[in-house]
Amino acid sequence: MTNKVTVLGSLNVDTILQITRLPKPGETMQMHNKQNAGGGKGANQAISAARSGAQTSFVGKIGADENGQMMKRLLAESMVDISQVTISEKDTGQAFILLQDSGENSILVYGGANHTITDDDVYQAKEQIQAADFLIAQFETPIEQTITAFNLAKQAQVTTILNPAPAKEASAQLFSLVDLITPNETEAELLTGIHVTDEESQHQAACKLQEMGVKNVIITLGSKGAFYRCGQTEGFVKAFKVDAVDTTAAGDTFLGALASQLQPDFSNIKEAILYANKASSLAVQKLGAIPSIPTYQQVKDQL
Ligand code: RIB
Repeated sequence: MTNKVTVLGSLNVDTILQITRLPKPGETMQMHNKQNAGGGKGANQAISAARSGAQTSFVGKIGADENGQMMKRLLAESMVDISQVTISEKDTGQAFILLQDSGENSILVYGGANHTITDDDVYQAKEQIQAADFLIAQFETPIEQTITAFNLAKQAQVTTILNPAPAKEASAQLFSLVDLITPNETEAELLTGIHVTDEESQHQAACKLQEMGVKNVIITLGSKGAFYRCGQTEGFVKAFKVDAVDTTAAGDTFLGALASQLQPDFSNIKEAILYANKASSLAVQKLGAIPSIPTYQQVKDQL
């Protein structure tokens, strides 16, 4: 069965600045290289789902500019339905990624058009939202419109997934609409106040998130793997060991790939996480967000 995935989210053109290390205040440094690539958490997650075989739709906003056209083209090339990508009076979102030789990155984001999504835009996409198996949203678009979209999804028994990135506090109203939340350690700590370091703290943070209203939790732990708590069932799926050149979009690749494989009742959560871990391990071995996201065949060939 092919999963239907709708993503409400951000589209950014990423400028990757390759540097030895971060500059100190007041210091001027040369970079080795710079290049543009498609990105934005929403677009990355949608393209990951689509490349892994999901029938995928996107709800988002771009500016009336070349970057917006580039993002629409990239989504369409990966067979994502772009009928609900509309034009804003603001410029298309942009991200500036400082990528150090160590593989670590620091990201500065200009939200632009991503911040102008309205309730009307969400209602216009009602069909795409209510026909999906999964609706995914992140924190690069306004939380109020995510609540509107999740309400529409719940009316039609669509499974909702919240990727609480970049880290931000959110309301009980939003959490009550979330079927699955997927923070990394930092985001889990910001949301729960629990410092996530080991299995016990992963368990505690997941339980706290359930107390806050979400039904199921996956905490992604980078090169270590992913911890899950579905209802009362818990488990851990180890990551694949690889040499990372660029971790940008590793989490987005994981999430899109997961949504493409997961049963809406979470019955195959372990297998779906294994698949998503492999997809993300392939993404970190290539430079850039969208250029690094693997296809279903590339993931399956390596599993
Ligand atoms: O998660 C990675 C993404 O975060 C990048 O593609 C960048 O656009 C920022 O939004």
